[in-house]
Amino acid sequence: MSNSDVVAEVRSGTKRYPGVTALNDVDFSVRRGEVRALLGKNGAGKSTLIRILSGAEQLDSGDALVDGTSLKGLGTREVAGLGVATVYQELSLVPDMSVAENLFMGVWPSARGALDWRRMRVDARAAMARIGVDVDIDRPVGSLGAAGQQLVEIARAVWQNPSLLILDEPTSSLAAAEVRQVINVVRRVAEQGVAVIYVSHRMDEIRQVADTATVVRDGRIVETLPVGAASTSEIVTMMLGTAPEAVTARVRRPSSDPPVLSARGLRTDKLDGLDIDIRPGEILGIAGVLGSGRTETLRVLMGLDRPGAGEVRLRGEAVRPGAFATMLRRGLGITPENRRRDGIVPLMGVDENIVMSDLRRVSRSGVLDRRAIGEAARALIDRLAIKTSRPGTPIGDLSGGNQQKTVLARWLHAGSTVLLLDEPTRGVDVEAKRQIYDQMRQLADDGRAVVFVSSEVEELTDVCDRIVVLRSGRAVAELTGDEIELERVLAIAIAEE
Ligand SMILES: Nc1ncnc2c1ncn2[C@@H]1O[C@H](COP(=O)(O)OP(=O)(O)OP(=O)(O)O)[C@@H](O)[C@H]1O
Ligand SMILES: [Mg+2]
Repeated sequence: MSNSDVVAEVRSGTKRYPGVTALNDVDFSVRRGEVRALLGKNGAGKSTLIRILSGAEQLDSGDALVDGTSLKGLGTREVAGLGVATVYQELSLVPDMSVAENLFMGVWPSARGALDWRRMRVDARAAMARIGVDVDIDRPVGSLGAAGQQLVEIARAVWQNPSLLILDEPTSSLAAAEVRQVINVVRRVAEQGVAVIYVSHRMDEIRQVADTATVVRDGRIVETLPVGAASTSEIVTMMLGTAPEAVTARVRRPSSDPPVLSARGLRTDKLDGLDIDIRPGEILGIAGVLGSGRTETLRVLMGLDRPGAGEVRLRGEAVRPGAFATMLRRGLGITPENRRRDGIVPLMGVDENIVMSDLRRVSRSGVLDRRAIGEAARALIDRLAIKTSRPGTPIGDLSGGNQQKTVLARWLHAGSTVLLLDEPTRGVDVEAKRQIYDQMRQLADDGRAVVFVSSEVEELTDVCDRIVVLRSGRAVAELTGDEIELERVLAIAIAEE
């Protein structure tokens, strides 16, 4: 290949933030038709490299170029004009606007100066069809759930016919079938000569989608290699800088205690008579395909959504449905699926985001105690190995995976007795995942109830003591012990009615 095949590059690029060098003298380039994976731990610098190449951030020194044009002084709009389309790690859609409006945000088709609604709707359907997804383009995007929104973002980027397509964790909320679709689309556009930069923490997916991989560690590029040239454990070793710890086999210990939380006949527009029992001392997994009602189940149990019918009991006592504040006070905690929208207060410190779940624990005579806040936060930052330059850093400045760990830390601080975890390992690196599983196990051993929702069925079958499978808003199977097998869970989840 000749040099003219290089679509984008960074030369000796350095980017500093207060207290951290996010990119340290980086040389990077990607060619036409190449799918390049970016691999590295949470906070390694992957998203920073992407924000540099999309014009969202400027280097402190060195240069970034697209098709030979320096990006110095250019913003995202100008860089998009050079043929770069980016899907950022955090969803950037406007929830109340329709799928169609979001797809063409800022580039609305117009006819004679007026918005051309008809064309917008035709194009919107075509854009979704191009990535093989069937959604109602008139629906508000916010009603789609995280997976649907992620697909809309991808459709929007692909529709721009970019020469460089950048995808920062495009599949973190997707289940296997949708991941497959995304991989197919990416392969197809690469065959047409588009250069693709792709971030994911799932190695099996990287192997299917990428030609080459660049491993980033502490802001430096460790290595760039064809993905077939190294084993997964070799690549993980490059990411971590040391060999990963051996995995210890887990013993499943389903609990026979009476349920701490149970629900009967829950009905909403997404649930169809759901029954579920949650017992102390175990990790209960909830499996199911997109739209099966997993997130909705947690939201109803937590009192965030009010069911049209059905009953929720806490320690045997009926609770008023939709009573979030009561549930919170009585020891329930939830890590929401969409941390940007429901999970974090971006401008507040990591420390404040942690202790906000229980301010009494860090108050004296009703007054917040700064020292106590610092101590409580620091202990949890250590326990979960959250990468932040100081406890008071605004959480919005942390890398995606570290924000996710902070949301979990909040409920450890609260000492919740029932923890409802919706995709708690979303965007979290391999090592951090292990730490989160260990925390979940400790909580269960400690007599708490842990409910674990994930679209990665493998992690459910690895970690859980019991698994409930949802289909069309109903619990259709409950598995324990040897019944917990990947193939079996998948088969039940996708079975026809
Ligand atoms: N706006 C910002 N202000 C301050 N620090 C930042 C900012 N953005 C990123 N950082 C820091 O730069 C480092 C690299 O972050 P980056 O988001 O690039 O990591 P990442 O590799 O994408 O991680 P993840 O896998 O968790 O998404 C981290 O230490 C992060 O806290
Ligand atoms: Mg990132």
